[in-house]
Amino acid sequence: MTAPAPLLEVTGLTVEIDGPDGPTYPVQDVSVRVGQGEVVGVVGESGCGKSTLLRAIAGVLPRGLTPVAGEIRLDGRSIDRRSGAVAMIFQDPMTGLNPVMTVGAHVTEVPRRRDGLGKAEARDLAVHLLREVGIEDAEDRLGAYPHQLSGGLRQRVLIAAALSGDPELLICDEPTTALDVTVQARFIALLRRIVADRGIGILYVTHDLPLLGTMCDRINVMYAGQVVERGATADVLQSPTHPYTAALLAAAPRLDARAHALASIAGHPPRLTADLSGCRFAPRCAYAADGCSSARGLGAETLGHQSACVRATELVPLTDRGAS
Ligand SMILES: Nc1ncnc2c1ncn2[C@@H]1O[C@H](COP(=O)(O)OP(=O)(O)OP(=O)(O)O)[C@@H](O)[C@H]1O
Ligand SMILES: [Mg+2]
Repeated sequence: MTAPAPLLEVTGLTVEIDGPDGPTYPVQDVSVRVGQGEVVGVVGESGCGKSTLLRAIAGVLPRGLTPVAGEIRLDGRSIDRRSGAVAMIFQDPMTGLNPVMTVGAHVTEVPRRRDGLGKAEARDLAVHLLREVGIEDAEDRLGAYPHQLSGGLRQRVLIAAALSGDPELLICDEPTTALDVTVQARFIALLRRIVADRGIGILYVTHDLPLLGTMCDRINVMYAGQVVERGATADVLQSPTHPYTAALLAAAPRLDARAHALASIAGHPPRLTADLSGCRFAPRCAYAADGCSSARGLGAETLGHQSACVRATELVPLTDRGAS
């Protein structure tokens, strides 16, 4: 039996930055899949290429960044940005909202422009969408401006606006970073409900590995522009097979009383030039060995779990080595 075709299929994507000191590659040979009704996470340290990956998928790369290899397909076809099939939610709700546009205008912009909805229809749709994202006093909020809303409400308006184009895929770039923990938990619950109700797929990026554990079906761990480990959420969190994932887990803030200090991983990621070879994490890795210089990306999939570490099977379980 063959697996059903994924909703989003990114294969071998490479993005080039044309910099003054020569080209660099913030995303290199990255492949990611999201199925219908699936929440897939991408996690990694600052600068590892998460936002660049999402922007390349949404077709909104900043100037100077160009996809130079790979394919991005939605339902087997290349993505038409104007179709609204892919919607994106950014880290800072103010970035995604226009300060001089009302809540109602944000939520009806796409349907009015793309589908030619009339004023009354658009208003009904806006109220419906705002209620869908848990804004009960929707009618009263239609005329409000972004600065009149709390951070949590702004984030809900952003989701309503994203849903207004009836997307098949929602891509989220650290959307809860600016929210406090309780609001964050409600936001995650809302996203899960939307996935269940609408059957859409979500690609969710964050540097917060434990947060992904609460919401994703599968996780991709990115390091220095590449996916170094991927698998079902529980597999990756409970038995990481790449030392970088184990280090990320060890560095995550804990809720238990013992660990107050936030550990960080020593050293820095490399400059992402074309001539890098072998494992990019090796210079920072406590388990580095001779074979690391010939590491070649993700290995074969075993039980839905893949690792780029050449010592993966030998080192398992890494959670016993400081990450538990
Ligand atoms: N517009 C740009 N011009 C030049 N370099 C860029 C640009 N955008 C990203 N980069 C570089 O690409 C690399 C990846 O950046 P990206 O923003 O994708 O990382 P990230 O994983 O999203 O980090 P963060 O967790 O801080 O958001 C970084 O080295 C960054 O400096
Ligand atoms: Mg980012």
